[in-house]
Amino acid sequence: MVIIPSNVVALGTITTYSAPAVGGATQLDEWGTTGMASKQQSLGDAKSAKLDEFYTQLSDIEKELRHYKAHFKDKVVYLNCDDPRESEFFHYFSYNFEKLGLKKLIAACFKSQDVDLFSIGDNERAIYLEYTGDKDGDRIPGRDEIEVKYFDGDGDFRSAESIALLKQADIVVTNPPFSLFREYVAQLMKYDKQFLIIGNMNAVTYKEIWPLIQEDKMWLGVTRTGTGQMWFRVNDDAPVKSGQRTDEEGRRYQTIGNSAWFTNLDHAKRHEELTLFKSYSSADYPTYDNFDAIEVAKTVDIPMDYDGVMGVPITFLGKYSPEQFKIVELSRYTKTQGMSKEFVDAYYASGQTGQISEGHPDLCYYDSNGRPVVPYMRVLIRRKDGSA
Ligand SMILES: C[S@@+](CC[C@H](N)C(=O)[O-])C[C@H]1O[C@@H](n2cnc3c(N)ncnc32)[C@H](O)[C@@H]1O
Repeated sequence: MVIIPSNVVALGTITTYSAPAVGGATQLDEWGTTGMASKQQSLGDAKSAKLDEFYTQLSDIEKELRHYKAHFKDKVVYLNCDDPRESEFFHYFSYNFEKLGLKKLIAACFKSQDVDLFSIGDNERAIYLEYTGDKDGDRIPGRDEIEVKYFDGDGDFRSAESIALLKQADIVVTNPPFSLFREYVAQLMKYDKQFLIIGNMNAVTYKEIWPLIQEDKMWLGVTRTGTGQMWFRVNDDAPVKSGQRTDEEGRRYQTIGNSAWFTNLDHAKRHEELTLFKSYSSADYPTYDNFDAIEVAKTVDIPMDYDGVMGVPITFLGKYSPEQFKIVELSRYTKTQGMSKEFVDAYYASGQTGQISEGHPDLCYYDSNGRPVVPYMRVLIRRKDGSA
């Protein structure tokens, strides 16, 4: 057994967690992308790897993880993007090891060659930790109970060494670097792992991710997205932006309106059916001009008696129950008839300035006042109890 080097945090000490006060965040739309400032704070806009340095808080981990307790019994959990000096995921799983009935906990710390870009990066070699539970009966994961092992390489989650650990694991839990989200999810799928990870809602529209959502191979977790729902600790040298809070010890936190949990672990919330109370009428629900479906601008307004295809905002996925609805497609990947010349002319005649032209594949409709509308991307769904 190796003693944890002194540059690894005192793992035997429980830090008292104090949540930063919620508030002061930029008003974001359902995508969290109103204007430049919020675009900069979007995980989805991670133009540089520096934007990957968002550390998840213990309170947010606890809030989500409490819905999955039954899944963890006798399981090997792998945190493959988690520097134990920074990661509250390691804290959560090591302190809850016995409560969850875990078999083993592994946490790998990526060692970047660029100290500025990734984490602390000052370990001589990339390390991973293994913990198999409390041995001395104090219910605290002590230093002498946590094995520190060394990677030959840098601990990249794509490296053969990290994949060997992944193969041992039953469930992978982390907040991976968002700039590598596609690759990260592809690897989980390739090795057929159960997972609970943090990402950005925008990712559901990626061509690599959408089919997983559509085929119910991956779904959203329980914590709802939205400004103030989750706060991530940022490095001291991170630029000051709107949507940040500083705690009493001077640590800064950023709220990201469209951060979300993604998982293939079942949870009760996804089996809660949405109560539908509206009735369909052609006046209230326009039919798209170029596709056989109706526009439903808000998820709460899904009519209870329309049997055909309906276009709903992407935030619907947070309310989606596979027993109640079938996901038909994402509008981005749907072959529409294309916009007609009449629609395009009417659109510009109404003073709107979007970039459209005849044949444009996005959904479009005329609202109840006859105004041409090109809505944001829609999820096309139908009710499962519908006869159509
Ligand atoms: C969004 S941060 C989250 C950190 C931690 N999982 C948490 O939730 O607090 C992503 C982490 O992934 C690490 N990382 C970046 N590229 C990586 C790679 N290729 N392999 C493994 N980890 C990587 C970064 O150093 C960073 O600490």
